Amino acid sequence: MERTNYNGELRVSDAGKKVTLVGWVSNRRNLGSLLFIDLRDNTGIVQLIALDPEKIPDVRNEYVVQVKGSVRKKEVPNPKIPTGEIEVVIEDLKVINKAENPPFIIADKTDALEDTRLEYRYLDLRRPCMLKNLRTRAKIVKITHEYLDANRFLEVETPILDLATPEGARDYLVPSRLHHGSFYALPQSPQLFKQLLMIGGIERYYQIAKCFRDEDLRADRQPEFTQIDVETSFMDQDQVLTLCEGMLQRYFKEIAGVDISLPLRRMNFWDAMDLYGSDKPDTRYGLLLQDLSEIMKQSDFAGFADAKYVKGIVVPRKGKETSRKKVDLLSSEARKFRLKGVLTLKFENGKLDGSFVKFLSQELQEKLIEQLKLKEDDLLVFASSNDRRDIDFGLGALRTLFAKEMGLIQPGTYDLLWVVNFPMFDRIEGTDQYSAEHHPFTRPRDEDLPLLDTDPEKVLAYAYDIVINGYEAGGGTLRIYDHDTQWKIFRLLGLSEEDVERKFGWFLRAFRYGVPPHAGFALGLDRLCMILCGTENIRDVSAFPKNLQAVDPMSKAPSSVADEALDAVGIEIKKE
Ligand code: AMO
Repeated sequence: MERTNYNGELRVSDAGKKVTLVGWVSNRRNLGSLLFIDLRDNTGIVQLIALDPEKIPDVRNEYVVQVKGSVRKKEVPNPKIPTGEIEVVIEDLKVINKAENPPFIIADKTDALEDTRLEYRYLDLRRPCMLKNLRTRAKIVKITHEYLDANRFLEVETPILDLATPEGARDYLVPSRLHHGSFYALPQSPQLFKQLLMIGGIERYYQIAKCFRDEDLRADRQPEFTQIDVETSFMDQDQVLTLCEGMLQRYFKEIAGVDISLPLRRMNFWDAMDLYGSDKPDTRYGLLLQDLSEIMKQSDFAGFADAKYVKGIVVPRKGKETSRKKVDLLSSEARKFRLKGVLTLKFENGKLDGSFVKFLSQELQEKLIEQLKLKEDDLLVFASSNDRRDIDFGLGALRTLFAKEMGLIQPGTYDLLWVVNFPMFDRIEGTDQYSAEHHPFTRPRDEDLPLLDTDPEKVLAYAYDIVINGYEAGGGTLRIYDHDTQWKIFRLLGLSEEDVERKFGWFLRAFRYGVPPHAGFALGLDRLCMILCGTENIRDVSAFPKNLQAVDPMSKAPSSVADEALDAVGIEIKKE
């Protein structure tokens, strides 16, 4: 089809040229003797002008047209668009295709509900901001290929029809037609395959890998998402982190024009938890968690007598405005993290105020004011728990809530850090059993190996997460490559020899044949893209996402299937 120029690229230097353009009618304004049309293609918008409107066919928004005309300088430029200094005088306009009236305004600012946007995603994708997001995503992938290729990594695909694994999130299952009663699972990540590639001598692997997890969805989670998945042999933790940092530096430079200085800061897991109440801390603002155990245990409040941890956060300038209702709201937020609720104290007119004051002697009040360096109108929000993670996560959630409410986060700023030294195990609530914090193939730190026999909860692992603006953008570990340590871990996870053989026998067999030390990481492409696009909604950075109910509002997937299709795979649907 004839086309001489892209609409969004026309400039004043093109004035006087004859052009043929194609695109969608984005807007039309009929002034009677003159008709203005905004013509959109994937580069942007250019204004067309018809000097004899009655001589051109009637066009409506979203019609696809081809236009011949000449470019001229505008008398009054429009500084809002890059082509604003020129307009194209229409000589001939051909309607290529008509369009129905779209269900929402196709522009960056739209008031359509998200489900409507997803139902008509092809129209939503015509909004310039959506195209921009997809371009950013493609750029990340391009840089990834360039960077890893230059570092001798080989792109290898791994299976999508995989073995179901009982670990981690719930699997998406695919019934087998040839083996009734057997199922494939869609991969939650290519974890075991990439380790086998190391045993297979590939040495440096990467893949832009589709992953599938049947878990509850959130603003930063999709049931299917993409990882930039990397595994390498013969590298220690520092080398792996350096490799990843180099790639991150390029993304930020080439996409956001931001210089990230390396090496990135590293924060121990427990420091992140203790201070920020999160294993993915946003360190762009304060509101740090304060340990109040010593003072509060001396209070007359019976609830704190045998609490292991009493901690709080001081929120500036929130004392006066915090109502009873707000405290109830904070408590209900805290209860999501298994805390009983929160208490508050205000600092007003140079002294503590609130119903809790009666439990604190004058001396304890003074100690508290001094330790927390309280200032006029400060609000202290505090809670107790016997579980270190519960209290940290609970208060951490309130910290984030206040930061958002108070606008403490400056848009367009980036905060990158590594969280390292994760615990190897997490105790399963109410039992003596452990679960693996990452996965059972994560290598404990060399210096902690003796603790496996004496105090497993204290064992830290070679595990690292890359945290950007409070999001877990990626993570990885060094892997176990010796038989004895692997078995110790399995035993600590309560797995018998039969369990291990059944679950991982096929995988562990490979470990008998010469395993190189290996390690890897995976970056969440969608989350990284979200951060670089400045959106908080993961659905804004993939072309056809699912909504929060894991449904595609456009195709309505998932759907029921014909009885014959079920018969073929030997499945009968239970009646509710
Ligand atoms: P992990 O489970 O931490 O590690 O996943 C790596 C990264 O993938 C992203 N991610 C998600 N993004 C969108 N939606 C989801 N549901 C979702 N789940 C995870 C996150 C996360 O940091 N195999 C290991 C990596 C390794 O050890 O090499 C793994 O999958 O950004």
